[in-house]
Parts: sequence; C-alpha cells; structure tokens
Amino acid sequence: EKGGYEHFMIKEIHEQPKAIKDTMTSRIMSDSDEIVLDDIKLTKEDLDNINKVFIVACGTAYHAGMVGKYVIEKLARIPVEVDIASEFRYRNPIMDEKTLLIVVSQSGETADTLAALREAKKAGARVMAVTNVVGSSVAREADDVFYTWAGPEIAVASTKAYTTQLIAMYILALYLGRLNGKLSVEEFRTIRDEMLVLPEKVEKLIQNKEELQKFADKNHMHRDMFYIGRGLDGSVSLEGALKLKEISYIHAEAYPAGELKHGPIALIDQDIPVIALATQEELFEKMVSNIKEVVTRGAKVISFALEGNTDIEQVSDQVVYMPRTISILTPILSVIPLQLLSYYVAVIRGCDVDKPKNLAKSVTVE
Ligand code: M6R
Repeated sequence: EKGGYEHFMIKEIHEQPKAIKDTMTSRIMSDSDEIVLDDIKLTKEDLDNINKVFIVACGTAYHAGMVGKYVIEKLARIPVEVDIASEFRYRNPIMDEKTLLIVVSQSGETADTLAALREAKKAGARVMAVTNVVGSSVAREADDVFYTWAGPEIAVASTKAYTTQLIAMYILALYLGRLNGKLSVEEFRTIRDEMLVLPEKVEKLIQNKEELQKFADKNHMHRDMFYIGRGLDGSVSLEGALKLKEISYIHAEAYPAGELKHGPIALIDQDIPVIALATQEELFEKMVSNIKEVVTRGAKVISFALEGNTDIEQVSDQVVYMPRTISILTPILSVIPLQLLSYYVAVIRGCDVDKPKNLAKSVTVE
C-alpha cells in the first residue's frame, strides 16, 4: 500500500505533482478564461454584499490560510483575517450576513474548525469549506465547498493536503477577483498559465533530493533550528518548522526575518542551523541583509532561492535553487524541499515518521 516507498509521508510527497494537477483540472484551463467551481454557488450579488472574509483552520491548514489571506487581498481586494480555529471561537469575532467564512480542513472533521463554522452560520455569515474529504462534516454543513483532490493522506504530517490547499487558495482568489472585477483578465491569464506549469516544477524539485539528504546528514544532531523568511516566505517557514517539529522532535522556530533583531537573534549561535527562504524578488536584498545578521553570530545557513539569484551564495553555506515562477506562487515550490528536509532528518534520527508520538491524524476533540 506504500507503493514501494518506505513511508507514507515520502509517498505522499511524491504524489504532489499529480495532486496539484488534479486540483486544477477542469477548474482552470489554458484555453479558457472561465473558472469552473461546481460546488460554489456564490454569485456576483452575494459577493458584492460581502465586506469581510475570515479564514479559519488549524495547523498546516492554518498555514495555507495565511497564504490565502495574502492572495485574496492582493487579487480580489477584500479584507481577510486568518485565525486559528481554537482561538477564533472564543474571541467573539465580529460576523454578520456580510461576512464570508472560509474553513480549511484536510479531514473536514477537526472539532475546533467545525465549531467555528457553526458559530459563523449562527451569526448569519456565508460559509465556504475547503476540504479533502467528500461528505465530511464541514463539507456537509457549508454553503459552498471547494474539494482539494489530494487523494487520501495517511501520514500524520500533512504534505499533499497543504500544497492542494494552496492551489485552492489561488483558484479562489482568482475566482473572487474575476467575480468582483478587481482582477483584470490579462493578470488572470498570467497567473493561470504559471499555475498550470507548477506540477512539472514540483516534480523537478522532488527529484533534486540529494541536497536535502546532505543537509540532513550534517545537521540531524542539532537540538534547535531556525526558519526565517519575509512575506509569503514567512508563512512557508512556519509550515517548514511545524514539519520538522512534529516528525523529528527537533525544536524549530519560524520567524519573519525582519523581526529577528527584536529579540530572537539573541539565541543564534554556531549550534543553531538557520534555514532561510529568499524567494520573494521584492524582498531579496532585505533577506540577504537578514542572513548576514545571523552569519555574523556564527550561524550556518542553508538558503532557498530562485534560480539565478546567486548573490545569496556569499552569505550561505549551502544554497538550494528553485525553478522560477511568479512571487505569489512560490509557496508551492519552496515547501517541497522543506518537507524533504524534515523527512530525511527524521529518518536519520530513527523516528516513526508516519506516526509521530503524541499526535493523531485528525483532532476531533476540542
Ligand atoms: O484535518 P485538518 O486539516 O483540519 O487538520 C488540521 C491539523 O490538525 C493538521 O494540519 C496538523 O497540523 C498536521 N499534523 C500538520 O502536519
């Protein structure tokens, strides 16, 4: 059932090009300017009435929601707040019939996420579910549903669910932006065309695993690691750090790189490897300066940058290059080496990769 792989996690990492492709198929197409979403009934009038979007989720799904906020605000120009479901429920959020609540849940059964959905419905909000399980509780109770077509995810550490949730966020942002007219057809086409070639780029990154194995060989004995990035790279850093924590039990911190000097840089020394994401073209120079700050304190840095941005080599011990794409789509690519890195570190440490201690695949208690 593991299809020749040693663990479900590595099998699921390899399934990502297909999962991403399946999630886009029949929804965005190279020869059409339509976006086809069968289970979404939201009309232009409905959308014109909405003045606020909440994205609510837990864990990895929450990290996908952070990217969702960025892209919906950018492409559809609607204010979006992202919340952790277990916090959202208890903070008396301001919601009414002008609110759209998007819950993101692989399983569709996470107790806090489901409770947030019910809370929103009670307040009269419109509710949309992004889920991987047909007929799951959130799918049944939501007004609109976007299914990710990742296929069953068995490993506790989420991989293909995350990348397909990102695809869902991009397609939704395009959809909302076209529906309310904030996104031009030219801009839509540029993003759509770049999205359609992502599966090949993901495939290429998965094949390039030796560099991550090399890093894991050298660094699996460390007790702590830092992940830094700016903008969307900051959100992906959080996901990378969560993957490492849950399967390798190494303490990992993710920080927006510009925030380091406001405190956490005090911890940096030669014993803490720093994983630096520098895929955002507009923030590249700023990232290089932030990396210099940690290098000065003795840190060994592995950087992730887009092909051609070789300046980063001057401040890094190791650089992993990624195929170029437009800035908003980089999370789909940059998370792949971070998943592989966590996987190899956990394997070398002899951890039970698919079933980490103390964790369950689906958290159905509050
Ligand atoms: O099924 P859900 O997407 O609602 O699950 C949410 C989290 O429990 C889940 O993403 C968790 O954080 C994963 N173990 C992360 O790899």
